[in-house]
Amino acid sequence: MTSEPTYRVRSPGRVNLIGEHTDYTGGYVMPFATDLHTQLEATPSSAVEVASDAVETTYTFETDALELEDDWIDYVKGCYAILQAEGYEPGGFTGELSATLPLGSGLSSSASLELAVMGFLNEAYDLGLSRERMAVLSQRVENEHVGMSCGIMDQFAVALGQDDHALMIDTETLEYEPVPMPEGIRVVVFHTGVSRELVDSAYNQRRETVERALAKLGVESSKAVSEDDLDELSALERDRLGFVVRENNRVTQAKAALSDGDLEQFGELLVDAHRDIAEHYEASCAELDYVVEQALEEGAYGARLTGAGWGGAAIALVDDEQADAFADSLAAAYRDQFPDLDPATYPVTPSAGVQLEQVE
Ligand code: GLA
Repeated sequence: MTSEPTYRVRSPGRVNLIGEHTDYTGGYVMPFATDLHTQLEATPSSAVEVASDAVETTYTFETDALELEDDWIDYVKGCYAILQAEGYEPGGFTGELSATLPLGSGLSSSASLELAVMGFLNEAYDLGLSRERMAVLSQRVENEHVGMSCGIMDQFAVALGQDDHALMIDTETLEYEPVPMPEGIRVVVFHTGVSRELVDSAYNQRRETVERALAKLGVESSKAVSEDDLDELSALERDRLGFVVRENNRVTQAKAALSDGDLEQFGELLVDAHRDIAEHYEASCAELDYVVEQALEEGAYGARLTGAGWGGAAIALVDDEQADAFADSLAAAYRDQFPDLDPATYPVTPSAGVQLEQVE
């Protein structure tokens, strides 16, 4: 009897440097994959049995029984649902999940889990999927199985991230360019401890508004919209799409600033992006606004919310040797300001997209 091989998959999270709420309008984004990651150790078998050590639960299911559970296992089941819809028939696995990536904090733990499962199934069952295709199929897991209308940014960054680089992605064409992170700086993630329970409905609403605005203007991509075009829209649509149009421009400028090593300019763009999203997209909250302003007080080049917003995490850009002291001092100030919340800080490094090795 030949025994089945065991694989270890390391699937990162993502931080978005700039380009927020642009990816469902075919705009620009500039995320990177983090060293914080999800690990899946798994062996092919007929059904699926998967245990998560973070939440101490185990789920078992047959690969033709994919009903929703309203829990993290839906991301695993969704991978099967979408692969099957595309004509693939991967078998099951017995696996264990663990993570250094904090769950549900705005660092894409769901995309990380999807790509861990996709990456494993692709290898173990020889599906022949490229990284781009795994990203697109994982986005469909969210859109069609879980019911979250997200764009492609998270899955793309998790699949295609590169060590020490951010990726500038055109989410209309999926063309992308790695942008080297200058040496000597560090991105500190600050998790506000604010729960993101209302994110999905607010997110889907924003998406409907900007899609309606694009349809009125008769264009598919926000890149085709200028600020003058906005006059044709209602006040709300103008506010929302106006932010997206300016954000696209900021991503282009931010890429240039980063490539030139101009950290002052890059930092200013982060702060502009935050103030704009807070005022015109209304995707921030008091805690995120506080973190951004306080981070500037404490000497950051720039700071902004990262991910969908409405709680979750912010990022700050600081000199590497100051990162730990900066994080401690910002967390202390935050605790004074919001004594009921439990923040967490994570200095992160841009890292490679999903990686897999055979361990037995
Ligand atoms: C979430 C979504 C992404 C993107 C961001 C906002 O992370 O999953 O597709 O839309 O929000 O930029």
